[in-house]
Amino acid sequence: MCGIVAYIGKKRAFPIIINGLKRLEYRGYDSAGVAVLNGEMNVFKKKGKVNDLLEFTKGVKIDGTLAMGHTRWATHGAPNDLNSHPHLSGNNRLAIIHNGIIENYGPLKDALKKLGHTFTSQTDTEVLVHLIEEIQKQDGLSLEDAVRVSLTKVEGAYAIVVMDQLDPNKLVAARKASPLVLGIGDDELFLASDATPIVEHTNRVVYINDGEVVILKRNAEYQIVDIDNNIQTPFIQELDLKIDAIEKGDFDSFMMKEIHEQPKSIRDCMRGRINAAEGWIKIGGISELYKDRDDIGRIIIAACGTSWHAGLIGEYLFEELARIPVEVEYASELRYRNPIITPKDVVIGLSQSGETADTLAALNLAKDKGAFLYGIINSVGSSIARLTNAGSYIHAGQEIGVASTKAFTGQVTTLSLMAIELGYKRGTIPKSYYLQLLKELEQIPSKIEKILESTEKIKYIAAEIKDATNALYLGRGYNFPIALEGALKLKEISYIHAEGYPAAEMKHGPIALIDENMPVIVIATNQSAYDKIVSNIQEVKARKGTVIAIVVEGDTEIKQLADHTIEIPNTDEPLTPLLSVIPLQLLSYYIAEFRGCNVDQPRNLAKSVTVE
Ligand code: F6R
Repeated sequence: MCGIVAYIGKKRAFPIIINGLKRLEYRGYDSAGVAVLNGEMNVFKKKGKVNDLLEFTKGVKIDGTLAMGHTRWATHGAPNDLNSHPHLSGNNRLAIIHNGIIENYGPLKDALKKLGHTFTSQTDTEVLVHLIEEIQKQDGLSLEDAVRVSLTKVEGAYAIVVMDQLDPNKLVAARKASPLVLGIGDDELFLASDATPIVEHTNRVVYINDGEVVILKRNAEYQIVDIDNNIQTPFIQELDLKIDAIEKGDFDSFMMKEIHEQPKSIRDCMRGRINAAEGWIKIGGISELYKDRDDIGRIIIAACGTSWHAGLIGEYLFEELARIPVEVEYASELRYRNPIITPKDVVIGLSQSGETADTLAALNLAKDKGAFLYGIINSVGSSIARLTNAGSYIHAGQEIGVASTKAFTGQVTTLSLMAIELGYKRGTIPKSYYLQLLKELEQIPSKIEKILESTEKIKYIAAEIKDATNALYLGRGYNFPIALEGALKLKEISYIHAEGYPAAEMKHGPIALIDENMPVIVIATNQSAYDKIVSNIQEVKARKGTVIAIVVEGDTEIKQLADHTIEIPNTDEPLTPLLSVIPLQLLSYYIAEFRGCNVDQPRNLAKSVTVE
């Protein structure tokens, strides 16, 4: 949610910032802006994408070796030029960029107004820069001290960078509950919301912790202090991120690249964790979890969006294979009620970004109640990864397309590994079935490759239904969460209204919607309850609905009933979601493409939701 990037060094800063903003654009694309210090403060900002900002600055000579930029996902104030970042102080001396929300901006704004401040935007961010200005003026403080003291008066979440026209060799940044990474070059420093703008310049980074303030100076000098001005020792890490991982390569979009990366990302997720020939699974934290928690009371899975759908599959897996009761919670709901969580519970946080504000807050709540926290995360070093007691990275690599694809299959793979291993250890599945599941899991990547080899039929079906205004997705058992996920993918990238339902629920309401204009996508790969799903298809056909069925190779019965079928290879039922989701990702993709939608940057969305 909003991307921030900053540079201080010897090079011309503007192109570095623009390039960085392009890398961060997946975090928000309502507006973009830069501030460059070159004797005076130059601010350029524009509603729209980074390319609109580039167009706006065309022909303007923008020199200067100290700069910062912002790409916005609007929270307070409409997405327009005025509300775009950077924001200036009343005396035009300070500029700020901000990712997060200042919750007490109302009272702060009223107090500042009484002191004579006037505001040009509706943002909470402008209030913060006026507060820093006021404190700097009243107490005669340096920029870093003024930022630090101001932040003691602020409630909410932030990653900020501030520059001062009268202090042109310095940037001051701070973080609380919004991500911030410092990049250390030979004689230059970078700041960004994630490492993607940094990786082409240096691989030495420091992930800034909550409550820390960073002072960046020329010649790559920097200091980190806490909010009380105590000096902190930085933990410098070597980034394991390659530039080609954040470029589209031969693909038209990041989403298509990421869909095609799934055989590799699942192999990466399983690397060193499974060996079917030798008959073992080794997954981080699980031995701890098992050794200490033979008596796991319950698993609670907290997540949002697509990650929540992966969590639902986790529920089916853990309950069926390991016989552990599971509850899957929307993190945003869990955190705001008074849930019963005890030290016997294991709370699993599922998150691609590791920064989702609601998931983070739900885990903090569970921690306060003494639960054991386990993270299944993609982003290395992210806030949730650092909060949890144990966990496993899914190793999907950077996911840039806003609609999650390879992170979802990485999460499901990790949950499958955990559930199979726990099932075996707890004696709830026999060794023969354990070995069979291991063998099957190892074959999943090549089965996905097979699905990806023949996409023409999916494209053809997409063309047939691209003008629909509504769609219904139905699935049973392990395929019910896939119905939800298929519907979400369609909604978010093609803007077609879609609903996912357990197939049997259709007759309790949604069946009223079915007519000849309603495509009904049925995920019908179940071995158990096959006859039931066949009956559900009959019910749709009887009401003239168009049925698109995802079936297992060689299926003949459903083929005769459905208008279109898409085949996937057979596998053991608990692993089916890893295959059945692939055609649905592609179907949504092609429909969105036919409708002329921007698949990588769907309207109103952003990749990492760091606000509540
Ligand atoms: C949908 C999508 C979102 C995310 C959700 C949680 O395609 O990407 O629904 O799944 O915002 O994000 P993470 O997994 O980063 O916590």
